[in-house]
Amino acid sequence: MLELKNIKRHYKTGQVSVSALKGIDFHVDKGDFVSIMGPSGSGKSTLLNIIGCLDRPSEGEYILADNHVEKLGDSRLADIRNQFIGFVFQSFHLLPELTAQANVELPLIYRGVGGKIRKEKAVKALEAVGLGERRKHVPSQLSGGEQQRVAIARALVGDPTVILADEPTGALDSRSSRVIMGIFQRLNREKGITVVQVTHEYNIACHGNRVIHLLDGEIERVETLEKPIDAVEAEVAAAGENK
Ligand SMILES: Nc1ncnc2c1ncn2[C@@H]1O[C@H](COP(=O)(O)OP(=O)(O)OP(=O)(O)O)[C@@H](O)[C@H]1O
Ligand SMILES: [Mg+2]
Repeated sequence: MLELKNIKRHYKTGQVSVSALKGIDFHVDKGDFVSIMGPSGSGKSTLLNIIGCLDRPSEGEYILADNHVEKLGDSRLADIRNQFIGFVFQSFHLLPELTAQANVELPLIYRGVGGKIRKEKAVKALEAVGLGERRKHVPSQLSGGEQQRVAIARALVGDPTVILADEPTGALDSRSSRVIMGIFQRLNREKGITVVQVTHEYNIACHGNRVIHLLDGEIERVETLEKPIDAVEAEVAAAGENK
């Protein structure tokens, strides 16, 4: 699905040069659920932005669905991003004055999809995250967890092959975090969507089948999980403890 070969990213600010990524090699197969962990400043967001074609490596090769990304021009890069990638961010990035449904329709407006199909797709995406009933609400009328589910619906509406999430549970309590992990696991298992998430928290990372530990712009180690945490089982267990 995607492959990174000796990816480096240097930032130059005035006289100071920072090597945010120092030669990253790994691949993600279709249907993988990968978590990227590491301390603050280790290069997690830099790596995710490169994977998501929001940024380009300074050196190295990146192949996404048979496309050599480092060789593409800006408009082709944007096409590839639209075709394959759905983004989810820590702070949701919803437009506050728009309803949940209008937020979810937004990527389709940019693609010139007509109103009727847009509505159908947005409602379907909101139903997929359990928010069909809340589609007329604006973000301030939704909880943090619900806002993140709207953001996931917005990522889903363009039928992405890969969902990329940067600290998707960073602003959420543990209950809402489990709900988000449950949605990712269902999309991954039932729809075969590849998930790559960045997280600080090990128990969130363990919902994926592989954990990539970054340290100082390098892969420190890769952990393969035989039995990832199951979000639904975790929710049932937590409900039992609260009785
Ligand atoms: N636009 C930029 N210009 C200059 N340096 C940058 C830029 N973006 C990131 N860096 C530097 O690159 C390094 C990696 O940053 P990155 O944001 O990828 O870390 P991170 O692992 O996502 O951290 P956090 O957990 O705090 O989000 C840091 O040293 C950071 O200061
Ligand atoms: Mg970051």
